[in-house]
Amino acid sequence: MDLTKIDLNHIAIIMDGNGRWAQDRGLERTAGHAAGEESLSKTIHWALENNLKWLTVYAFSTENWMRSSDEVEFLMFFNRDLLIRRREEFNNLGVRFHFLGDLDDEKIPVENKVLMSETEKQTSSNIKLNLVFAFNYGSRDEVHKSIEKFTNDHDSNVNVELVSDKFRNYMYIPSMPDPDLLIRTAGEQRLSNFLLYQLSYTELMFFKTLWPEFCEDELNQAVEEFSKRKRTYGKA
Ligand code: IPE
Ligand code: IPE
Ligand code: MG
Repeated sequence: MDLTKIDLNHIAIIMDGNGRWAQDRGLERTAGHAAGEESLSKTIHWALENNLKWLTVYAFSTENWMRSSDEVEFLMFFNRDLLIRRREEFNNLGVRFHFLGDLDDEKIPVENKVLMSETEKQTSSNIKLNLVFAFNYGSRDEVHKSIEKFTNDHDSNVNVELVSDKFRNYMYIPSMPDPDLLIRTAGEQRLSNFLLYQLSYTELMFFKTLWPEFCEDELNQAVEEFSKRKRTYGKA
């Protein structure tokens, strides 16, 4: 399948339900995050096979710091361990990594910061798939930070035409196109501070499947459903 033929270039995913998956099995919540790696890997391979150009996954939100210190510590460790173990495999397949979020935050361990910036550089000439990890990402935070940078650059000369023309240049990844499709797993039907500006005209889909059980079947179902939707962008 060539997804560009149905104008499906960017899929964003809220990977939710890891904790519930683990709790259902009497395991620690962190075991659910570890189990989610397989779904992520399958999704990336599926994206490569189907010529998807952008895949954005929500890995850690600006609100996730409010979880227990054990879980936060595990997630920081897990995210860097995953990069160490898997980046070569995906680099060889033509995947360009991006990290979307407040990456300067002092709460992020320095080892994670170094790895993220190294991985972005190492893969920067790859063109097959742009893989965006939303990490320490919050949409309101992104908008607030963009406003700060924008106004610092423009002093008092700000007007609505200038803002609508140039605002995106101040967001975390100016080259990132808006998602065509948003998928959230695990039954919750909310955005949880994810890409609020960018999702204005995105098709939304919610699956009951918990993230560690999400696989190609659901992705193919989502594509099938997407191909039936008519996107009118306000036109009649
Ligand atoms: C999503 O799964 C992963 C992260 C937020 C890092 P959850 O950990 O939110 O799983 P549930 O929603 O508690 O089941
Ligand atoms: C959103 O899921 C964040 C990630 C998937 C990384 P949450 O589980 O944190 O969101 P809420 O608490 O259900 O809104
Ligand atoms: Mg959750």
